[in-house]
Amino acid sequence: MDESIQNPGACAAPAGKLNFQPSLPVMVKLAEKRCETQNTVSLLFEHPSEDKASFRPLQNAPGQFVMVWLPELNEKPFVISYISDTGFGITVTVRGNFSRRLSELQIGQKVGFRGPFGRGFSGMEDYAPEKIAILGGGCGMASLALLAQKIPEANIIQGAPSSSELLYAERFPRQIIFTEDGSFGFSGRPTQWLEGKLSGGVEMLYTCGPEIMMKKVVSLCNANGIRCQAALERYMKCGIGVCGQCECDGRLVCRDGPVFSDSELQQMPSFGNTRRNAAGQRIKL
Ligand SMILES: Cc1cc2nc3c(=O)[nH]c(=O)nc-3n(C[C@H](O)[C@H](O)[C@H](O)COP(=O)(O)OP(=O)(O)OC[C@H]3O[C@@H](n4cnc5c(N)ncnc54)[C@H](O)[C@@H]3O)c2cc1C
Ligand code: FES
Repeated sequence: MDESIQNPGACAAPAGKLNFQPSLPVMVKLAEKRCETQNTVSLLFEHPSEDKASFRPLQNAPGQFVMVWLPELNEKPFVISYISDTGFGITVTVRGNFSRRLSELQIGQKVGFRGPFGRGFSGMEDYAPEKIAILGGGCGMASLALLAQKIPEANIIQGAPSSSELLYAERFPRQIIFTEDGSFGFSGRPTQWLEGKLSGGVEMLYTCGPEIMMKKVVSLCNANGIRCQAALERYMKCGIGVCGQCECDGRLVCRDGPVFSDSELQQMPSFGNTRRNAAGQRIKL
């Protein structure tokens, strides 16, 4: 295990600090819906009244996720993208049935939560904020949002196909934006920003987004002595290291990740190449 990542996993959290248990979903009422883009919505919830501090440990570990349960439908992982003293939120991009049903929830309806789980981003305290880059693509910005909230002076770079798909433009106004169609910010991909910084300026990079993009980002970092961590997405069922569904080159993404360091990623040939579908079959990315 790379010593640069300290494990703040939920299972290791001190007893009594977390409200949501590994095995039992806690039902929480939807308090607010925030439209982020045409097909992405943030769902905001109040901390369960019995423990208002339930999500506070997450502020030290952005990138952790919760298992979200819609009774009689399914349970899927979502990163915590909003946190405050009073509540927390997730950001949902509509892809299939589950995410569509989540996005259609009405204020006051209840959703089940387990978690938070996994190992988030770490090590930011070791770098000056201006030497840190937070580079996201598409829905991957959700995973990076609490990190950007924690280090607003860092370089925050976002790439999207077009301006209509940009996330959190007003929330993080210092973002450097790249759009593939040139409809906002710089024309092109966010990796171009990194290519311009390879001779100095960035010492630590955190990334989440399409895996092909992350593969390129991590390769550039490795070749140029920039430390980095990437958040992986794999199909999950239990979220707590029991079922094996999220296995990736001998590691369980739900328990050992979803954030992995540069040295760990170098030992994971599936990174940027293959993932498992719901049936556990390995498929090309
Ligand atoms: C740790 C973790 C955190 C996550 N956080 C978020 C989050 O913050 N916000 C969010 O919107 N989603 C997040 N996801 C994804 C989420 O859990 C669901 O997988 C997603 O919403 C799709 O579920 P669905 O049932 O709606 O679609 P599905 O029916 O599962 O899929 C619909 C279509 O999308 C394709 N698809 C599904 N997953 C992927 C993928 N990873 N890459 C490429 N194509 C895919 C399927 O092949 C299918 O064609 C996260 C996943 C993980 C593992
Ligand atoms: S989702 Fe079951 S082991 Fe990771």
